[in-house]
Amino acid sequence: MNNSNYFLKPNVMIEPLYNQWYAWPLLIAPHTAAMNIANLHLNIMKSYVAAPQIHANAVKNPALLGGPFIDYNGGRVNEIKALMTKTTKEQAHMLEFADSVKRLDQILKSQAKGHSLEPLYPTIPENLKGYVELVYDLNNNASIRYLEGLLYRSKYYDPSLQSLSLSLIDSDDRAFALSTPRLPDEKKFHWNIPFADERIDSLFSLRDEAQPYSEVIERLGLRAEDEELFKTFLTEQPPPPQTRYDGPGINLRYFGHACVLLETKDVTIMTDPAISYRYENGIDRFTFADVPPRLDYVLITHSHQDHVMFESLLQLRHKIGNIVIPRSRGGSMEDPSLKLIFNRIGFNNVIELDEMQQIDIPGGSITGLPFLGEHCDLNIGSKIAHLIKLQDKTFLFAADSNNIEPALYKHIYETLGDIDSLFLGMECDGAPMSWLYGPLLMTTLDRAMDQSRRLSGSNFEKGWAIVNQFNCKEVYVYAMGQEPWLTYSLSIKYTEESNPIVASNKLVEACQAKGITAERLFGKKICLYCN
Ligand SMILES: [Fe+2]
Ligand SMILES: [Fe+2]
Repeated sequence: MNNSNYFLKPNVMIEPLYNQWYAWPLLIAPHTAAMNIANLHLNIMKSYVAAPQIHANAVKNPALLGGPFIDYNGGRVNEIKALMTKTTKEQAHMLEFADSVKRLDQILKSQAKGHSLEPLYPTIPENLKGYVELVYDLNNNASIRYLEGLLYRSKYYDPSLQSLSLSLIDSDDRAFALSTPRLPDEKKFHWNIPFADERIDSLFSLRDEAQPYSEVIERLGLRAEDEELFKTFLTEQPPPPQTRYDGPGINLRYFGHACVLLETKDVTIMTDPAISYRYENGIDRFTFADVPPRLDYVLITHSHQDHVMFESLLQLRHKIGNIVIPRSRGGSMEDPSLKLIFNRIGFNNVIELDEMQQIDIPGGSITGLPFLGEHCDLNIGSKIAHLIKLQDKTFLFAADSNNIEPALYKHIYETLGDIDSLFLGMECDGAPMSWLYGPLLMTTLDRAMDQSRRLSGSNFEKGWAIVNQFNCKEVYVYAMGQEPWLTYSLSIKYTEESNPIVASNKLVEACQAKGITAERLFGKKICLYCN
């Protein structure tokens, strides 16, 4: 390879991995990672090794989409077995941690009856001592508070388990992220690199800025034996140039799912980044090649894997000014600190936004609004909707907010008044609670309870109530997981009869009948708002 200048090809894909599993927030926080290894990863791998064909059949069955099944068509059993053995051996301390959590929970259930918890400290399993506090709620129900900051400083947080798998992508077809561990193959470059490592920023700045080959290799610190494969990821072909928006008004671009870019000449904002790569495919879309050189604010609505996509965030990190996240309760198993998660993986420019708190930005403001529901009635604080005021317009990005209490929006209306543009997710079926939170539970959930507590967003009636409460002038249904390039993250495939499609069609029609601009977004959309 000569020493001319090279860019990263626009179809280089990364999968951020933790112990070979697709990384998402609950695999970063040490206590939740332990529970996922013990109660999800090992169980899926054991089941696959015992009956690979059952998994192969289940993956093909639309009724079982997104289930705990490994997508290797019944093959690669020895490699899964090897990963299982390695995990059992090398992550023994994580398995013991998860086991001790359940034991301590049992101790609290049987012995914490409202009297002082101090006498119970000697009974705390040895490996949890000093990492937990025992606490009551005001009803004398005892629980464990995890000292997360300390856990990140212990052997339970091991950044050497983090890595990136780099490969070339040319179709939307990818195995479901949460159920299939990523195994190495000759077309994938497996880069053992902690997510906080700045070489990741050097790599992705190559999307826009070419560097001489020798410098690329030196900056990334690649080994000679990795160069042959790595060379296939580089190109001399420059991408279309990206510049900061300097036109009139507000330029809004929909990138897919809950990812929307808002630009004025003063500020650039992106919500819930989830971005496609550029390759030949039937559906037109914006890709990484369309992201402007700087994102002044990236807004995160909540910590579900389709809204905190490390895959996109790590590639954008070098462009992000501030990342605005909801404030977690922290210290609990169900709601670990999102701030610590982001800090530990190399995002140091984090702003925690509280409900009804406003931050000023050039030419406007961002206000956090309460986000109810869609979290199975768990006490989770790390969710927020964003009200963005820019110039003389207001945009509400409500993501998966489920309008289970219309009085909430009445109160907000009394404070903030009309909202011009509503962006609302309407995945109103939602998965049962165990789908995402099962590995964290202390006891198996009764099936009827599991089915009743869902990760579901607003249906027609709930969405319509929001539209009317705020006298919205335009309504966009988004965050539906409908773009095929995101199927690997959510495993949703709709038909025309699916409830979320029926409900969102109904909302769009009701809006249009009332003279409100409305559409369910899919793929790509541009709106220009000029005064
Ligand atoms: Fe969600
Ligand atoms: Fe979502």
